[in-house]
Amino acid sequence: MRHAIYPGTFDPITLGHLDVVVRALGLFDRVTVAVLVNPRKQPSMDLATRLGIIRESLDEELGDAGRGVAVESFEGLTVDLARRLGAGAIVRGLRAVSDFESEIQMAQLNRRLAPEVETVFLMTSAEHAALSSTMVREIASFGGDVRGMVPAAVLRRLTVPGEG
Ligand code: PNS
Repeated sequence: MRHAIYPGTFDPITLGHLDVVVRALGLFDRVTVAVLVNPRKQPSMDLATRLGIIRESLDEELGDAGRGVAVESFEGLTVDLARRLGAGAIVRGLRAVSDFESEIQMAQLNRRLAPEVETVFLMTSAEHAALSSTMVREIASFGGDVRGMVPAAVLRRLTVPGEG
């Protein structure tokens, strides 16, 4: 059983993230989306909301395939989560060269901490290469249209006042 974790902040999940999940499902038997509880970052959406949105997005956008994806939160090191779950790989999406520097640093350090856990980089589709959660939040905060950038479950939270 090849199991990969896909760690991130997912504040919020974008169609680019879902694209990476789909690609990971093509390579691994099991994929766990792992949402970091980061005490140093104050996400715009709380953990329960982010977890709920991810679950809904996987079910709605990926159908049967999505239902096979686990979602959980974690604190601490990503490699510790990988070890706890018995996952042999960490999946990260690469959009552009600019991602590469920080990602390779993280991958090298994770390898030092846990040599048995491999980092696998998956290239997002060109259509989603410019997407980031930060940009989505900014566009949405000024009333811009983020359709085609985020799953419906995110759109519902962004457009229904009082939620998220
Ligand atoms: O979606 P993000 O914010 O790019 O995800 C970053 C994440 C969660 C993958 C990274 O910050 C992380 O792995 N944090 C957990 C703490 C950890 O393992 N740090 C050591 C990495 S070298």
